[in-house]
Amino acid sequence: MKHLLSAADLSKDHALEILDTAEQMHDVQHRDVKKLPALRGRTVVNLFFEDSTRTRSSFEIAGKWLSADVINVSAKGSSVSKGESLRDTVLTVASMGVDGLVIRHHASGAPAQVARWVDAAVVNAGDGTHEHPTQALLDAYTMRRRLGDLEGKHVAIVGDLTHSRVVRSNLLLLHTLGAHITLVAPPTLMPSGIADWAAAEGFAITNEFDPVLPTVDVAMMLRVQKERMSGGYFSTPREYTVGYGLTRDRLRKLPEHAVICHPGPMNRGLEIAADAADEARSAILDQVSAGVAVRMSVLYHLLGGNA
Ligand code: CP
Repeated sequence: MKHLLSAADLSKDHALEILDTAEQMHDVQHRDVKKLPALRGRTVVNLFFEDSTRTRSSFEIAGKWLSADVINVSAKGSSVSKGESLRDTVLTVASMGVDGLVIRHHASGAPAQVARWVDAAVVNAGDGTHEHPTQALLDAYTMRRRLGDLEGKHVAIVGDLTHSRVVRSNLLLLHTLGAHITLVAPPTLMPSGIADWAAAEGFAITNEFDPVLPTVDVAMMLRVQKERMSGGYFSTPREYTVGYGLTRDRLRKLPEHAVICHPGPMNRGLEIAADAADEARSAILDQVSAGVAVRMSVLYHLLGGNA
């Protein structure tokens, strides 16, 4: 595998290999000296055209802990703000002798286009409403640590499906790993064509959250992406929370062993109550921690050949 552009790039064996390597990488986090020599002499550029806290900092930490040279370039403060095109920016950066490009972009498909322009390995760090494959990997890693093998586990993904790149990557990867998936959303936030995809791939879709809750091993709550909404997808925030929020009342219906996930950043009080985000079943900070280990593993698998 030269690039990681989509969760569809990962076979089951390959996904499990990345998750298993991430287990070893996670140990580094607890060492006094957080450094492995695996990517010494390699250069990774994090090219972020959209805001990020978790993904950008975890890719930076991951690269540094593997001894790569890591450079961060964001749209703000670069020549992008002077009108430079994506192609010119990418070719400029690549000309400096870069081995890996980690790209977040507001346009779906941008990382795939970049991969056609450069020789460097390209990692999709979130493109528009399309995909976020390393998020799906860190989600699977977190679930696996809490629940064991994901084969046959029931994962409900709840909320703003229409604007979510996380859901698409999770659908692809969780299907590959053998999990059962139910998508839950109000009719206005169900992507068009999802019924055909559900029928073809064998996952369930519903507008009713409450009947699903007692059957899940994982409740993955998605952020309501207000910045991507141009119209009214629900009447009031209160109406959304009543129908689809993981509220204190709904926590009582969630099985004791179930895991609460959220890719972040959270809208506390809208899609997830503070009680749910902060209780023992919540794996939200575990997901953040896993992000470093999984991204170390991805960089190692893409760039770890002989320098
Ligand atoms: N989950 C996620 O991609 O978060 P950031 O936008 O903070 O990177």
